[in-house]
Amino acid sequence: MDFRLTEEQEMFRKMVRDFAENEVKPTVALRDEQEFFDREIFEKIAELGLTGIPWPEEYGGAESDFLSYVIAVEELSRVDASVGVTLSAHISLASWPIYKFGNEEQKMKYLKPLATGEKLGAFAITENGAGSDAANLRTTAVKDGDDYLINGSKIFTTNGMEADTYIVFATTDKGKKHKGISAFILEKGMEGFTFGKKEKKLGIRSSTTVELHFENVRVPKENLLGEEGQGFKIAMMTLDGGRNGIAAQAVGIAQGALDAALNYAKDRVQFGKPISAQQGIQFKLADMATKVEASRLLTYQAAWLEDHGLPYSKQSAMAKLMAGDTAMEVTTEAVQIFGGYGYTRDYPVERMMRDAKITQIYEGTNEIQRVVIANYLLKE
Ligand code: CAA
Repeated sequence: MDFRLTEEQEMFRKMVRDFAENEVKPTVALRDEQEFFDREIFEKIAELGLTGIPWPEEYGGAESDFLSYVIAVEELSRVDASVGVTLSAHISLASWPIYKFGNEEQKMKYLKPLATGEKLGAFAITENGAGSDAANLRTTAVKDGDDYLINGSKIFTTNGMEADTYIVFATTDKGKKHKGISAFILEKGMEGFTFGKKEKKLGIRSSTTVELHFENVRVPKENLLGEEGQGFKIAMMTLDGGRNGIAAQAVGIAQGALDAALNYAKDRVQFGKPISAQQGIQFKLADMATKVEASRLLTYQAAWLEDHGLPYSKQSAMAKLMAGDTAMEVTTEAVQIFGGYGYTRDYPVERMMRDAKITQIYEGTNEIQRVVIANYLLKE
């Protein structure tokens, strides 16, 4: 067993960290305040080659690995969790299913511009009656000649409105329940495809979360991803990887809060000495660092398993569960270490605490992760 990153991966981490510190950090508080999605940041991420990290060069990718991908999401999220989830949804949720289930034509037409960052991707499964119970979706796709007509709505779509390419799940046969669900690739601008409410959120405020509406959207049969009825499996397999992206986001948020709390504890003097000299603060920092490290190891392990072609669904759920809970705990402790200042917007830890909460909710709540983990335990 070798727990070291390769020299290339270390250099990659440094490159992403420098970028995050220099290009993302200066505007993070303002973008959070204004709830502003900055496409220019995404374009810069694309210039660095981050939008296609794991995909082969022939599809516009960097031909790197999933471990590097989670490192990128972690480092971006250490500074700005909104930018982290933008990349995670783009790669794990929108690009991955096209890479895995798309035919050659779909890969050239849709994966390539996503990999180069010319286009931004999104994934739409959740509906108002189908959250944790994802199979209960109501959006329909009805065959009409060589096309499908899509009708219905989606909620909580990350990158919604800003994205150009959408993976949309709809039922082609309601009677078959989850076996009647199919996956489609939709493009922004298709007639009848419109956007609704943009959510005003507690955290990740500069990432967009939007409703999608479909009214007789005519989608050519060439845009069916995989086969009819394969959609639920595609969604579940996509979310297996997506959950590890969110685990990486959570590790990044927690590391950012730990770094900030550590620096503050060394500087803040009370009772004639830095608060870091108090054992009460030291114990907090030690617990925070230990949990961040454990979360990181699970996250890297899940990515390593995917890179080695081994099953990773259970580890990915464990990584998300552990890292999401850790992010919430560590950011809350960071605010505590900062005291009154931590509760103000003059310091980044209150934003990190708000951002952390979503990692316990989206891409399957942490209660759903426990269901997934328990199912594997009972089957094994
Ligand atoms: N890989 C492959 N197949 C899988 C699978 C996986 N990980 N998980 C389930 N399946 C298959 C099962 O084998 C089963 O197949 P058969 O019918 O052939 O036997 C089928 O899918 C149905 O499985 P279940 O009976 O377990 O399905 P279920 O309806 O009970 O649901 C669930 C299981 C785990 C609760 C699932 O519904 C789930 O993950 N819910 C959470 C949804 C979720 O994560 N939503 C997040 C949306 S994205 C988002 O958050 C916003 C964003 O943009 C970031």
